Parts: sequence; C-alpha cells; structure tokens
Amino acid sequence: MTILVTGGCGFIGSHVSVKLLESGFDVLIVDDFSNARRDVPRRIAKVAGRTPKVAEVDVNNLHVLRAALQGERIEGVVHLAGRKAVAESVAHPLSYYRTNVAGTLNVREAVGPCPFVFSSSATVYGRPARCPRPQRVQFDHRRSRPRRLGCAPRVLAAV
Ligand SMILES: NC(=O)c1ccc[n+]([C@@H]2O[C@H](COP(=O)([O-])OP(=O)(O)OC[C@H]3O[C@@H](n4cnc5c(N)ncnc54)[C@H](O)[C@@H]3O)[C@@H](O)[C@H]2O)c1
Repeated sequence: MTILVTGGCGFIGSHVSVKLLESGFDVLIVDDFSNARRDVPRRIAKVAGRTPKVAEVDVNNLHVLRAALQGERIEGVVHLAGRKAVAESVAHPLSYYRTNVAGTLNVREAVGPCPFVFSSSATVYGRPARCPRPQRVQFDHRRSRPRRLGCAPRVLAAV
C-alpha cells in the first residue's frame, strides 16, 4: 500500500515518512525542497531501514504533480506541503493562499477519492487582550477576528 506524503522531507513529513516505512507502508514523497535539505531522503532511509520514493514536485503545478503520480497506486495521503510562517503569511498572503489552498486542491484532484490527512496549523489567530496569552485562557472566536493564514484551514475543511 503506497501512501503519498506531500512535504515529506520537512520537519513533520520526515518523521511521518519514517513511521510509515517502519510500519510496512510504501511511501511516495512529493516535495519541492523549498524548505528541506537535499539529504533528507537518505536520512529517512537510514533511520527507517527502507527507502521512500521521492518526486521533486511543486504541488502548485497540477500537470507535473499528475505526471509524478502516474502509475502509482496511492491509497492514502498525508498532506504536509504547506507554508506556515505567520509573519511571512501576512507579508505575502497570496503566495500562502496559492500553496496552502490551491496546492491542497491540486493534491486532492491529482489523487482522487482516498483517505486524506491534512495537517492544519498549531497557530491561534486573533487579537488577545493580553500577550503572551496564558494557556489556560480559552480562545474566544466571537471577540477575536481570525487573520489571513487562519482562513486557509477553514476553507480546506470543506475540501
Ligand atoms: N511544525 C509544527 O509545529 C506544526 C504543527 C501543526 C501543523 N503544522 C503544519 O504541518 C505542515 C508541515 O509543517 P512542517 O513544520 O513540517 O513544515 P516544513 O516547512 O518543515 O515542511 C513543509 C515541507 O513542504 C515542502 N513544501 C513547501 N511548499 C511546497 C510546495 N509548493 N510543493 C511541494 N512541497 C512543498 C517544503 O520543502 C518542506 O519540506 C504545515 O502545513 C504546517 O502548518 C505544523
């Protein structure tokens, strides 16, 4: 069974890939290496004892993504090819929408119906009354207006 791990050479994706390989799944990593070192696939293979397939693809390019998946029997997806720096998302919102929203639609379209795990963000958006905000304080959505990047996970919940 082959699992597609987009962003599989990143921080979370490399650990997910190792765990999937150790659990007996075949892994196809799709990553454009915009935020990953080139030696990550080799290191994944060293830790897991098995080698993932790797395709250097930008998920924003549906045509190339489809070509990379040609002939593969993808039975599930862990989609981690995302951009996550809050300050950068405010400075370059369109680029963030492109990858986090349009890129996700591309992946969904390229693989068709199958189990799909999308890792959203651990970031909480809004305007807290006090900063830093103690962890025990509940986030009140009615009083805090979510910001740009926080919109992407809400849009994608429907995909
Ligand atoms: N790190 C955290 O604590 C955390 C917590 C919760 C959710 N997340 C989410 O998980 C996802 C991955 O986070 P991470 O910390 O592993 O980030 P990361 O930057 O380490 O990994 C992202 C990977 O995706 C690749 N990538 C980026 N844009 C791409 C594109 N257009 N096409 C193909 N590959 C692309 C990068 O090269 C990188 O290898 C993000 O969506 C992030 O919001 C992260």
